[in-house]
Amino acid sequence: MSPYSRITGTGSYLPPRRLSNAELAAELAAQGVETSDDWIVERTGIRARHFAEPGVCSSDLGVEAAKNALQAAGLQPGDIDLIIVATSTPDMVFPSAACILQHKLGIAGCAAFDVQAVCSGFVYALTIADALIKTGSASKALVIGAEVFSRILDFSDRTTCVLFGDGAGAVVLEASQAPGILASDLHADGKHVGILCVPGTVSGGKVLGDPLLKMDGQAVFKLAVGVLEDAARATLAKAGLQESDIDWLVPHQANIRIMQGTAKKLKMSMDKVIVTVDQHGNTSAASIPLALDAAVRSGKIKKGETLLLEGVGGGFTWGAVLLNL
Ligand code: UT7
Repeated sequence: MSPYSRITGTGSYLPPRRLSNAELAAELAAQGVETSDDWIVERTGIRARHFAEPGVCSSDLGVEAAKNALQAAGLQPGDIDLIIVATSTPDMVFPSAACILQHKLGIAGCAAFDVQAVCSGFVYALTIADALIKTGSASKALVIGAEVFSRILDFSDRTTCVLFGDGAGAVVLEASQAPGILASDLHADGKHVGILCVPGTVSGGKVLGDPLLKMDGQAVFKLAVGVLEDAARATLAKAGLQESDIDWLVPHQANIRIMQGTAKKLKMSMDKVIVTVDQHGNTSAASIPLALDAAVRSGKIKKGETLLLEGVGGGFTWGAVLLNL
C-alpha cells in the first residue's frame, strides 16, 4: 500500500465546433431568443463554448482526454486498474459512461464506474480514487470529467442556454510514496435540489417530466461563494496549510464573478486563479480537469506546485481537493 496518490498526467479534449457568444446569439435570435455578447461577457465572463456534434457522447470526449492524460503520464491503457468518470450527461441510462469508455480504450477487467455529483463531480471522483489508491484497491487510476451539457439545455431559456458547453478533462492518479493529494473535503445538501436540476426521468418507455436544465441562477450564485470559501478553509485546515501556501486555485468554471468572489474571500490575487470559463463556458464536471490541463500544458502550472481544486453544483454539492502536483 502507498501512503499517497499523485497526479502523473493530465489531458483534455474539446469537440471541434466552437461557438462565440455572437454566433450563439445569432442562432438564438433566429428562434426569437434575445441575448448579446455584451450581456454574457459582463455577467459571466464567457466568450465562447464548444458543442459536440449529434451522436458524439460523453464517453467519446472522455476517451480522447484519457488518451492525452495517459500519454502525459507515459502509461498505456492496459496499465490502468481503475476508471472513474464524473458526468451528469452519460451516454445511456446504463451502463455507465466509464464502462463504455473502458471498452473504447481497448481494455477490460478493471473497475469502472460513474460519479454523479454534477459540477462537483470531478472533486468527488478524485477523492474516491485517492481513497481507493490509499487502501491498496487500485494503483493507477484514470479520473475523468466528461459532459455534453448541450444535450440538456433549453435553448428557449436565455438565462441558462448561454452558460454551458461540452468537453472532457482527465488525470492519471498513481500510487506514490511522495505526497500528491494532501486533503479533500466533500459536502452535499439535498434540500437545494430544486435550484439546479434536470427534473425529467425515463419511465414506462417515455421521458417523464422535463428533461432540460432548470436553474435559479441567483440562488446558486449566493450559495456557491459561501460554500467554496468553507471548503477551501476546511481542506487547508486538514492539511495544516494556509491560503498563502496555495500556488494556484483551479476552481469550477461557472462564472468569473464567482471565481472573483472566492479569490477575494481567500485573499488571493486573480493572478493565481486559473480561468478558462471565457473559452469553455461551464462544462460541469469537465471544467476543473479541462482548466487544469490547459494550465499545465501552457506551462503556467508547474510540477511541485500546490493546487486547490474546487467544485460546486447541483445537488447541492460542493468540495475541494488540495494537492501537490
Ligand atoms: O455549474 C453550476 C453552477 N452554476 C452557476 O454557478 C451559475 C450561478 N449563477 C450565475 O452565474 C448568474 O446568476 C447568472 C449568470 C445565471 C445570471 O446573472 P445575474 O447577474 O444573476 O442576472 P439575473 O438573473 O439577475 O438577470 C439580470 C437580467 C434580467 O433582466 P431584468 O429582469 O433585469 O430585466 C434577465 O432577464 O438579465 C436578463 N438576462 C439576460 N439578458 C440577456 C438573463 N439572461 C440573459 C441573457 N441575455 N442570456
